[in-house]
Amino acid sequence: MDSHAATPAPGQHELVLNWLTEDRPEQLERLWHMADVTRARFVGDAVELCGTIKISNHCGEACSYCGLQFRNRDLHRYRLTPAQILGCAREAVQFGYRSVVLQAGLDGQLTAEWLGDIIRSLKKETGLAVGLSLGERSDEELAAWRKAGADRYYLRFLTADTNLYRLLHATASFGDQGRLPFLAKLKSLGYEVASGIIVGIPGQDVNGLAADIERIRALDLDAVLIGPYVSASEWRAMPASDAAYADVPPPALTALKAIALVRLLCPEADVPGTAALAAVGLADAPALALQRGANMLFPELTPRVCRTDYACYPGRVPLDELDYFNGRSSLRARLDELGRRPATEKRARRRSAAEASALSPAPRAEPELRVTVCMGSSCFSRGNNRTVTEIRDFIERHHLAGRAVLEGHLCTGMCKHGPNVGVGSETHSHADAAAVIELLRHHFSLKE
Ligand code: SF4
Ligand code: FES
Repeated sequence: MDSHAATPAPGQHELVLNWLTEDRPEQLERLWHMADVTRARFVGDAVELCGTIKISNHCGEACSYCGLQFRNRDLHRYRLTPAQILGCAREAVQFGYRSVVLQAGLDGQLTAEWLGDIIRSLKKETGLAVGLSLGERSDEELAAWRKAGADRYYLRFLTADTNLYRLLHATASFGDQGRLPFLAKLKSLGYEVASGIIVGIPGQDVNGLAADIERIRALDLDAVLIGPYVSASEWRAMPASDAAYADVPPPALTALKAIALVRLLCPEADVPGTAALAAVGLADAPALALQRGANMLFPELTPRVCRTDYACYPGRVPLDELDYFNGRSSLRARLDELGRRPATEKRARRRSAAEASALSPAPRAEPELRVTVCMGSSCFSRGNNRTVTEIRDFIERHHLAGRAVLEGHLCTGMCKHGPNVGVGSETHSHADAAAVIELLRHHFSLKE
């Protein structure tokens, strides 16, 4: 193993930016491959199927991209009864799902007590993990639902650019941080936090998108939601112009790149293929997402009679796409073809203490030792796949989480010297796992 002082590598922002603007098919194949290998390595072949129960399409908000906004006065509104919701959850059990998400617009009739009772009954009867996707709710409601047993909360921060955020949420109250304080609150209440971005918002440029992807990493999310912008121009408050899409490359392709990059930057997070991918006309969207880093899908469980009323993307999702997403045989068969299988148990996510504190207001202390492993396809396949696991196990076994931080990065163009691993201020080329572990052992004065 050779060592030398760390040479300035392209910054992470620049690397993400390069991939977002890359359009050569052979290079994109490389990105898809790296993401797929990383997915297999860190979260395995199991696909988390989270049954979606859209419990209400009432909404007091007016997000410019969403057909449920209150300005859409022609939409037939519904709210499921507790019995209907429990019926859907029983179906989830029959299909072998491990989790459900209860989704709705910002519906004031979903009170803390009403939904708390449903969550308690659902957990007691089915044992399913329960996620909520109900918009920005009050502290009291969030605390009550968490206490009732809700496990995870889904809310995209959409973009870290407050000007764009303002355009999307013409009527919302927000501060300079957009939804980020809300995510911190969820974490402090003990929720698993699922959040993410929209790709291709009119006015968004690739620099801003790269910054959003980096923000995802800093937030240390349990699940990362990436979806392309889908125009609901009939209702949106901002001037509609298809020319705005020129700001970023085509949203569907860019969303797939973002999924792949997120897998590389957040290897252990759940990354779903979302329905919005299908809504922008991406054929076989769930399969493409699963082959580019995703490990989760949201099969539809909402009663059929209500599905077309949940018009997030009005007129854009044909019924057969909904059929494809439902948990009946077609989905199983497709997973089989892809060499994947439904998840049957909860996957433990291993996080360092430093990562886990990324959402807390306290600044992160600089670790004593930073270990950086190149996760580019060349280094990864030539040994860093094993090295990264061994380093992680070493840190855990010796309780070094507060002192050592393990980070991955994308290819820095030094492939011919790879596999490359940084330990402190030195980069080690031709690094193998045993030699790196020996360096760590020496640094921390540890005997086996
Ligand atoms: S995105 Fe959610 S909060 Fe916004 S209009 Fe749609 S349902 Fe309402
Ligand atoms: S893959 Fe290129 S430097 Fe590691």
